Amino acid sequence: MDSDYTVGLGNNDIKTRAAANQDSIKFWESQADNLYWFKKWHTALEWNAPFARWFVGGKTNASYNALDVTVQKNPDKKAIIWEGEEGQRRVLTYKDLLIQVSKLANALKRLGVEKGDRVTVYLPMVPELVISLLACARIGAIHTVIFSGFSAKSIRDRVDDSKSKVILTADGGRRRGNIVQLKNVVDEAIQGLDFVEHVIVLEHTCTPVTFTAKDKKWKEFVDSMESSCDAEMLDSTHPLYILYTSGTTGKPKGVLHGTGGYLTHVFATFKWIFDIQNSDVYFCTADIGWVTGHSYVVYGPLMHGATQVMYEGSLDYPTPARIWEMISRYGVTILYTTPTALRMFMKYGDDLPNSNNLSSLRLLGTVGEPINPQVWKWYFKIIGKDKCPIIDTWWQTETGGAMISPLPGLETIPLKPGSAARPVPGVYLSVVDENGNKVPPDSKGYLVIEKPWPGMLLTLWGDDEKYKTVYWSKYKNMYYAGDYAIKDKDRYIWMLGRADDVLKVAGHRLGTAELESSLVSHKAVAEAAVCGIPHEVKGESIITFVVLKDGVSSNLQLKEDLVLHVRKTIGPIATPDQLHFVTKLPKTRSGKIMRRLLKAIAQDEKIGDVSTLEDEASVDEVKAAFAELK
Ligand code: WTA
Repeated sequence: MDSDYTVGLGNNDIKTRAAANQDSIKFWESQADNLYWFKKWHTALEWNAPFARWFVGGKTNASYNALDVTVQKNPDKKAIIWEGEEGQRRVLTYKDLLIQVSKLANALKRLGVEKGDRVTVYLPMVPELVISLLACARIGAIHTVIFSGFSAKSIRDRVDDSKSKVILTADGGRRRGNIVQLKNVVDEAIQGLDFVEHVIVLEHTCTPVTFTAKDKKWKEFVDSMESSCDAEMLDSTHPLYILYTSGTTGKPKGVLHGTGGYLTHVFATFKWIFDIQNSDVYFCTADIGWVTGHSYVVYGPLMHGATQVMYEGSLDYPTPARIWEMISRYGVTILYTTPTALRMFMKYGDDLPNSNNLSSLRLLGTVGEPINPQVWKWYFKIIGKDKCPIIDTWWQTETGGAMISPLPGLETIPLKPGSAARPVPGVYLSVVDENGNKVPPDSKGYLVIEKPWPGMLLTLWGDDEKYKTVYWSKYKNMYYAGDYAIKDKDRYIWMLGRADDVLKVAGHRLGTAELESSLVSHKAVAEAAVCGIPHEVKGESIITFVVLKDGVSSNLQLKEDLVLHVRKTIGPIATPDQLHFVTKLPKTRSGKIMRRLLKAIAQDEKIGDVSTLEDEASVDEVKAAFAELK
């Protein structure tokens, strides 16, 4: 095998994989046994394709597993070491967390929140964000977290879709020395949404905000509640959360996850991937607004009673060495971050990591986008000093937990820079062609998942049909992930990026259709087309083309207005890098925008077959737009 990177932790458990391969359902049952159940399930998997229900008949609770299990053994174990951007610190033990979670759970109950009700959470990366998720889980309310970089319009769409009764937010959040006005954004988002009954506002930045009749102050209201609250005994299949994510249509999809199956997947993978030990200090840089934060900041580490560092702010602020200083300050042993962050750190040069003490690190993880082999090697050498395994984990909001990853907590295998290695035990996947036939080793194809797995989404919130169409209609009985991949002759998987119209910009998932609908919603715009092109740091950058309505003339001001419009309707994470005015878009004769063509032109590549193109002049215009940039 062509790899010089056989770095493991000495674990060599061959039984686990063997057990999975013998009977994957029984195997997942044995993993579910590691959780706490109020009542054991009677059926491991009900597979009413394509709907999976895991551990049916079982009763459990996510918050009980994340808190009470550790509080009973080790109440003073540190759960969260929080640091704010300005250097503020807070340490919360498992016992502290349980008290805070119980108070908030009681507060939600007081406001009339019942099992199955939705609660929207729009908070910065502060301990109260973790507390919010667990308080909902404790009483069986379904949490739906919205990343604090989304705009009022995005929040409104999500709150409206989930029909949340209560919103948990803060006055503001901190980012790069600025204050993000979260409460004001919520006020704007929920105007006229009468079903939103209450908003609980955490005073975090102490920026002045206006209080309305719906608002309750966190400190006054929540702190006065009882500090104990029994965890509801919930069905294993009870929904734990909705998390909205971008797809190929204009409207984000509400991915719905259950309880028992999801927790089993997250518990097992967290152990296999990170080899978590009692003495570890874990640091995942993901925001809880994304799935990585749900699974591997909240549920995974807490179910294992781990100690973790949580940080609010930019990893390179106020100095580009911020992250390395934090690792050294807290003796972080496990770091889990993104290729975008690594590319940024790499640009800052080796002196910064070299001049900080990183000797505590023993495991390094990455997630969210393909990692370039040179970045992988830099991570290995400069950050890991040639002694830490690099764990490249592939998964999706929909999969709930990691699906492809080296597993140093389980086995030692040679690592290949740029490959996420092999599927985790109990997960079966293939790389197939357009017709669903397996492609030969080393050939590019589409990644599919062949069998149901415990972390898989239950459905899309309120839309079973869409769930079937998006994931289960391209191939019969196989889950279509939407990613290109290669399986090499050693059965290692190489992920090659999205095969559909989904972008990964700085690790954030955005749909081209979502960006196009945002642009088209502007009064000056008749049509829009969006594509992504490779970007040195962010992975992909957003390129937009706009056809204006008759009579509207293009100018610099309008360009700026349109960029601002996208920021306002989706959020700053969706800011286009380029915006070009054209008079027509390259389309097929049946009217489909040829994004492939836009992308090829933007990258100076051969544009290939254009026989289906409706009007060749559109291509010349796009070419001219790029020529102008050079
Ligand atoms: C991409 C993030 C390559 C992929 C957990 C997937 C990756 C999408 C990797 C899901 C990886 C995630 N290597 N690509 N290790 N991890 N992706 O839902 O395209 O935000 O389909 O979940 O990210 O993004 P999502």
